[in-house]
Amino acid sequence: MAREPVNVSEFQQLAREVLPKMYYDFYAGGAEDEFSLKENVEAFRRITLRPRVLVDVSRIDMSTTVLGYNISSPIMIAPTAMHKLAHPEGEVATAKAAAACNTIMVLSFMSTCTVEEVASSCNAVRFLQLYVYKRRDVTAALVLRAEKNGYKAFVLTVDVPRLGRREADIRNKMVSPQLKNFEGLISTELESDKGSSVELFANSMFDASLQWEDIAWLKSITKLPILLKGILTGEDALKAVEVGVAGIVVSNHGARQLDYSPSTISVLEEVVHATKGKVPVLFDGGVRRGTDVFKALALGAKAVLVGRPVIFGLAAKGERGARQVIQMLKNELELTMALSGCPALKDITRTHVTTEKERL
Ligand code: FNR
Repeated sequence: MAREPVNVSEFQQLAREVLPKMYYDFYAGGAEDEFSLKENVEAFRRITLRPRVLVDVSRIDMSTTVLGYNISSPIMIAPTAMHKLAHPEGEVATAKAAAACNTIMVLSFMSTCTVEEVASSCNAVRFLQLYVYKRRDVTAALVLRAEKNGYKAFVLTVDVPRLGRREADIRNKMVSPQLKNFEGLISTELESDKGSSVELFANSMFDASLQWEDIAWLKSITKLPILLKGILTGEDALKAVEVGVAGIVVSNHGARQLDYSPSTISVLEEVVHATKGKVPVLFDGGVRRGTDVFKALALGAKAVLVGRPVIFGLAAKGERGARQVIQMLKNELELTMALSGCPALKDITRTHVTTEKERL
């Protein structure tokens, strides 16, 4: 009988067993020394909880809204590339899991299913993650297709002027992006014996000259809300508010870009303070437990996004696995809320956590 994992870590183990090493390493790995990769997870462990007792927790309400869309819990699906390397149904299966869990999926720009395929396969609320290509017409065309297909917002990822150095991919000669949204643009030149084709692809296509002023260009071609993903400082959060984005995602790209960038949970509060409540602050990086979700909310996040855990679920058991992972995190969050005396998300406050700094 197939093993039934009881937590995200066991799903990761199962994914490792079923995936070819090249793909597992692609999903699990981070940049260079993988310092930030470990820190994203470890930093959560250094935050402890301050539970309150004798509160009526006979009913727990995890529901919330993001950009006005109702979701059943503050756990969303982060944009991650190339789900077909994890499972033949790819992003369509992930989107179905999002719909079943009544949450929002952010589809990656580097998707192996088209925006149309994902849209027609389920009724989950979908956002589309964007990169700005040197050829802006290509990005603009995808924006239009996403609008036509009912995507509700764009998440512009701003931490990839160039691809981070992911040494496992270089070692494994990671190949074959299979990026279905841009068929015709993917050239065979990318088949290289020099290293990772993902790196060659990103570095040849992405516009490394993109600046704050260019957000106006994106705003000029769409009426949909734009979130910026990859903000790690109060300074940049302020600028994001100034240029008029609808939200911020605190993220270090799952530690796949700049190694020795801070763990995301350690900078969340700085970003939240800088925004002064003007835009919602979402969070990702290292969320593996319901307690992690609780901690991020206590430090000011409106919701969290999970990346690798969903891919591990997808790799292990397809749509059902992705669903189980989200459900697991939801169950854990619900229990954490009950045991901390927080019947609703609004009851989770800064006083419910102690950071390492505060203990010293
Ligand atoms: C990513 N991430 C990412 N982000 C993005 O904006 N566009 C993308 O195409 C991808 N692709 C991608 C692939 C893989 C395999 C991973 C692991 C991550 C980053 C992602 O959105 C998110 O920031 C992190 O995954 C969050 O960290 P955890 O949950 O994986 O720890």
